Amino acid sequence: MSARLRGRRCLVTGATGGQGAAVSRRFASEGARVAVTDLSQQDVDALVLELQALGGEAVGLRADCRDEEEVAAVVELATSAFGGLDVLYNNAGVLLPDQDGPVETLERSVWDEVLAVNTTSVFLFCKHAVKHLLASAPGSVILNVGSVASYAGDAEYHAYAASKSALIGYTASLAQRYGPAGLRANLICPGFVETAMVSQWIDDVHASAPILNATALRRIGQPEEIAAYAAFLASAEASFVTGSVVTVHGGLVK
Ligand SMILES: NC(=O)c1ccc[n+]([C@@H]2O[C@H](COP(=O)([O-])OP(=O)(O)OC[C@H]3O[C@@H](n4cnc5c(N)ncnc54)[C@H](O)[C@@H]3O)[C@@H](O)[C@H]2O)c1
Repeated sequence: MSARLRGRRCLVTGATGGQGAAVSRRFASEGARVAVTDLSQQDVDALVLELQALGGEAVGLRADCRDEEEVAAVVELATSAFGGLDVLYNNAGVLLPDQDGPVETLERSVWDEVLAVNTTSVFLFCKHAVKHLLASAPGSVILNVGSVASYAGDAEYHAYAASKSALIGYTASLAQRYGPAGLRANLICPGFVETAMVSQWIDDVHASAPILNATALRRIGQPEEIAAYAAFLASAEASFVTGSVVTVHGGLVK
């Protein structure tokens, strides 16, 4: 594994989930110092040990990404442990398939919950991290995680689509505002990726067939394939990439 991220100080949210863990491992394998956060302290502690075993420096703290005080504590831990921050990877997210739905059936409380986790948490992490990222600019970067639903929408899950499409405008705004200082911001939009979030479709061939048929490569993606792209975007190799909506979706056309 190359060492493109040697010494880079990274913070990954939703870090113990499928993609978050793959990204954290990839960052650590490429030499980064990685701070991780997610809902369970036990899972966070296990991931920190795993990252340290890869030879990297790692710290972690449980937080609910909807809670501003807890978010602030995570940013404080990361920046005090590493002396600053170069990469913020906003990956925490929820899809609530049994509750999300089209407008005629969608409850306000579900809409609020999905936007709180998928959208407001991104604002909260950016709010508390931006001064540290600016201090390490040029070269620092915010990577937000959207979805194909960010730009294509979703016939079924309206709250999810709205929460993820908001990140297009928000990420572009970050890029416009902080680009002159050398801080980059991009939105990664994964396709259908094999994680717990979509396990109910993976387990049901009838449910997954339409998605796979709409995917040029005719297969589900692996978290490591998102992580490979994330590592590029987090590195100096992507020094001219900002304000971009990048897809890693195997050719999924909805
Ligand atoms: N898997 C897919 O097919 C797919 C497709 C497009 C986009 N995405 C996006 O990719 C990102 C990663 O998802 P994943 O596929 O790894 O799923 P995942 O369910 O494995 O991971 C999501 C993580 O977010 C964490 N999280 C949820 N609510 C939280 C909260 N309130 N506070 C803190 N952490 C919280 C979960 O604990 C979990 O570890 C998400 O933003 C998701 O919307 C996933």
